[in-house]
Amino acid sequence: MLDPLSLNNKIWLIGFMGCGKSTLGACLAKVLGYRFLDTDLQIATQENLSIERIFKEKGEAYFRQLERALVANLEQVPSPLVIATGGGLPLYTPLKGTIIYLALDFESLYTRLLNDPNPRPLFKDKESLHALYAQRSPLYAKMATLILETNATPQDLTLQLVTLLRTKSPSN
Ligand code: S3P
Repeated sequence: MLDPLSLNNKIWLIGFMGCGKSTLGACLAKVLGYRFLDTDLQIATQENLSIERIFKEKGEAYFRQLERALVANLEQVPSPLVIATGGGLPLYTPLKGTIIYLALDFESLYTRLLNDPNPRPLFKDKESLHALYAQRSPLYAKMATLILETNATPQDLTLQLVTLLRTKSPSN
């Protein structure tokens, strides 16, 4: 059995746009004493372009290639990491390690995205966003090691998650 807190494990946070992967990821990494990485931020920094402009100027297929290459690199890192993924990443690139799906209802996600200053190239209107949510939610759930309902503060969620990870650890 895979130990979620073993020395070289990767903890991947997955879920729909706006579910709070980056905020929770940073909190979780701090508590566990792991390094934290946000795939969108890493890609935007490396390309020196926003995610919105990468989609617009180079296309989604190019962005997915960058995600795949980044995951391949991260798999070589011999130390524990908490990684916040872009919402589409695990659907295009298989992940190895502990996969935590941050689940939230559609209306809450939609409201968050409407109020989020960070533009999402795949958020066009409510109907198409809902179709994407309906398509992706069961896939996230299927690949997850753990599912966490994200209707609490990042601090509370971090505590819940650390407890869950410890109970899943074979040494317990
Ligand atoms: C995407 C989600 C975004 C970003 C890109 C594509 C997706 O990340 O990677 O816009 O396919 O759902 P967030 O989940 O952080 O919004």
